[in-house]
Amino acid sequence: MKHLIDIKDLSVEEIDNLIEVAKDIIANPENYSHKCDGKILATLFFEPSTRTRLSHESAMLSLGGQVLGFSEAASSSASKGETVSDTIRMVGCYSDIIAMRHPKEGAPYVASIKSTVPIINAGDGGHNHPTQTLTDLLTIKCEKGRLDNLTIGLCGDLKFGRTVHSLITAMSRYSNIKFVLISPDELKLPEYVKRDVLEKNNIEYCETKDIEEYMDKLDILYMTRVQKERFFNEEDYIRLKDYYILNKDKLRRAKEDLCVLHPLPRVNEISTDVDDDPRACYFKQANYGKYIRMALILKLLEVK
Ligand code: NCD
Repeated sequence: MKHLIDIKDLSVEEIDNLIEVAKDIIANPENYSHKCDGKILATLFFEPSTRTRLSHESAMLSLGGQVLGFSEAASSSASKGETVSDTIRMVGCYSDIIAMRHPKEGAPYVASIKSTVPIINAGDGGHNHPTQTLTDLLTIKCEKGRLDNLTIGLCGDLKFGRTVHSLITAMSRYSNIKFVLISPDELKLPEYVKRDVLEKNNIEYCETKDIEEYMDKLDILYMTRVQKERFFNEEDYIRLKDYYILNKDKLRRAKEDLCVLHPLPRVNEISTDVDDDPRACYFKQANYGKYIRMALILKLLEVK
């Protein structure tokens, strides 16, 4: 049985195939509206979410399936002390596939060992977020027309931002990818990602604190929120939360065809005056998230 815990659970070929299916769903949604008749998706969210939970649910409903689940740990038996492994064994009796988000790194992996149905990691602590990465890849492919030959700026909380870790891992497998890592010292990309992904694959990258330094070189600018919930003390969060605020002025040297992405939710890191700039792609990105998750559900349920 296949699970999606880490983006590397999928080969490049499988990802390219998911992107092709997602594009076909966008073009011909009626061909997919009964593909999952009689199937049930469970969404187990032990941490807050808007897009990830609702896009998984919308994806399953659009495939003709049904959904159940919970959106906070407090309303599940986790609040009584039940382990993830036990919860998963139960939910496998009530559903055909599970999307799960958890504040503890590795929890979806632990769940997958005990699960009788496919598990989708919908975000585990500050670690990984593979379905956001699939969303990002579909967005980049549709908006830029390619997944290779790109200079990608990643800006903000590169330490705790799980979407960044999964995106770097995925993009490192395409050719001629360069990264510009833009963060304050305290929120730099973890050493393990630099060592095991960037250095291991000989990927060109540089680090800077200045969002404008390489602005004219970027094909993609991926903004992120400072991950308040992962900070140990509030003072640090308050000091760092508004470190970067992308506005129209900061984009003046950017390429005409730059693509500005953000997994959302945004707090202050992108000023709303950027929203009507044609380079702002973050709302489109959220829309792509539904279609790639439809493709993923079909794949994991082995629906032809
Ligand atoms: C991201 C997450 O949960 O990691 N959100 C999302 O899934 N679209 C990013 C974030 O919360 O900042």
